[in-house]
Amino acid sequence: MWATPPQRGACHLEGWNNMIETIPATRPARPYFSSGPCAKRPGWSPENLTGAPLGRSHRSKIGKARLKDAIDRTRALLGIPDDFRIGIVPASDTGAVEMAMWSMLGPRPVDMLAWESFGAGWVSDAVKQLGLEVRVLDAPYGEIADLAAVNPAHDVVFTWNGTTSGVRVPDAGWISSDREGLTICDATSAIFAQALDWAKLDVVTYSWQKVLGGEGAHGMLILSPRAVERLESYTPPRPLPKIFRLTKGGKLIEGIFDGATINTPSMLCVEDYIDALKWASSIGGLDAMHARADANVAALAEWVEQTRWVDFLCGDSALRSNTSVCLKITDRDIAALDETAQRAFVKKIESLLEKEEVAFDIGGYRDAPPGLRIWCGATVERNDIEALGPWLNWAFTAAKADL
Ligand SMILES: Cc1ncc(COP(=O)(O)O)c(C=O)c1O
Repeated sequence: MWATPPQRGACHLEGWNNMIETIPATRPARPYFSSGPCAKRPGWSPENLTGAPLGRSHRSKIGKARLKDAIDRTRALLGIPDDFRIGIVPASDTGAVEMAMWSMLGPRPVDMLAWESFGAGWVSDAVKQLGLEVRVLDAPYGEIADLAAVNPAHDVVFTWNGTTSGVRVPDAGWISSDREGLTICDATSAIFAQALDWAKLDVVTYSWQKVLGGEGAHGMLILSPRAVERLESYTPPRPLPKIFRLTKGGKLIEGIFDGATINTPSMLCVEDYIDALKWASSIGGLDAMHARADANVAALAEWVEQTRWVDFLCGDSALRSNTSVCLKITDRDIAALDETAQRAFVKKIESLLEKEEVAFDIGGYRDAPPGLRIWCGATVERNDIEALGPWLNWAFTAAKADL
């Protein structure tokens, strides 16, 4: 229970720890700041999906055409080179990353990069499940691994944007153009928001529910010619379940990259993905998508600069995400609490804002240090980020008063 409950319609919440916080006048029009599934695109409606070939086989002419359309639009929007393959695969981004790891890793030493939970998950896969001898280059939350230490003769697995720490690679300058190894890049919370350098990437994966605000369950697997060469020249010494198999008789199954998916996709989700791609094109394409995320994080940064109780988890602005922005609470009283109490404090902020329907799902990831995480990808409106700041102050003040 609150010492004095926050009151709707009141001008101030007063008297707690000498803090005064006005109930904000403006509410975010769309309180969706989750880091996945992320906000649907502005103007989204189920009506936009009425063209989906529901009740039809995904292998029918119309079904295959929709899947091929999704692939072609992906290539056009992202500027993916013509000789790269683009496939829709099962099990979301995790499915795509693990397909690549299980199918390709083994013939070379592997450098595994990890600076937050998802990168750490791929390390665990490589070591505990695949039994590979790997070199782990890691860093604590808020920092990045030593990118210069990556050996171009090794395969490398990394996350372009660490969703749970808000730390991203600054660019692909650290990847050698003459590398012998493959680069396997989990780009799920970067793609459509940050500039990927296709010449430096051999495997890129993502899922639809992040920057595009699409639906979960489907993964995208993008392969360079070098990745295909690995698939066709290397037989991994491990069983591969059907949903991981990309080759037959030592040859790439080309159909997968033409819309003949390994198993059944949701044609409703495919339609929704196409709708998101069309929206992205309609607003100006990739540059506009990047600009929207940049503008959102700039608006959030303005608020952080003016706010004494909070700071970015990532101290280096060159490494700071423009999608999954992670914040730590720097207020001395809160920072002095033990971790459990800090997490409870964050939960309190979250639930106050959820109750007011001004912000959903803004708690940091469960394995990350206690804090907030606010999605700034292109489907979020800058106005809503601007409106959120005062509400965060209000919730912080109310939660602190209740300690
Ligand atoms: C960097 C990263 N990798 C992998 C995943 C898992 O994605 P999915 O649920 O699409 O498999 C996430 C989810 O947030 C992520 O942020």
